[in-house]
Amino acid sequence: MSVVLLLNGPNLGALGYREPEIYGTDTLADIEKAVAEEVAVRGWEVVSIQRDGEGDLVGAIHQHRDSTVGAIVNPGALMIAGWSLRDALASYSPPWIEVHLSNVWARESFRHESVIAPLASGVVIGLGAFGYRLAAQALLHLCPET
Ligand code: DQA
Repeated sequence: MSVVLLLNGPNLGALGYREPEIYGTDTLADIEKAVAEEVAVRGWEVVSIQRDGEGDLVGAIHQHRDSTVGAIVNPGALMIAGWSLRDALASYSPPWIEVHLSNVWARESFRHESVIAPLASGVVIGLGAFGYRLAAQALLHLCPET
């Protein structure tokens, strides 16, 4: 059974009520369901982990590095200076996609840099919860043999 790691960082457990004008009204459960639907076409499953602490995200990456075919990662604000998250992802060899619900380029300048983006197979920004579906489709595309 192929498994995708869906990894969400700080404050993303609050989706649905957190600044809905920016992040939309879909909850993390809605997003988990959407990703599961997308990858089910190939018989894949999803393991979803959301943590507010960077160390927990680092641990999740190492824990799942051998058991997953790819990952979808929304680092939240850790995009800006999450160096240990970046280093953990550097040791994760399957393809992974960075997702941001909001168009970070249209927001405050401190959101204009991602320390993890240079390592990602691709980045989806600004398309709301639909971006996770696109990331899931991208992983299916990048892993044709699984
Ligand atoms: C976010 C964008 C980040 O700048 C912010 O800190 C988040 C959410 C997004 O999905 O748009 O927590 O990653």
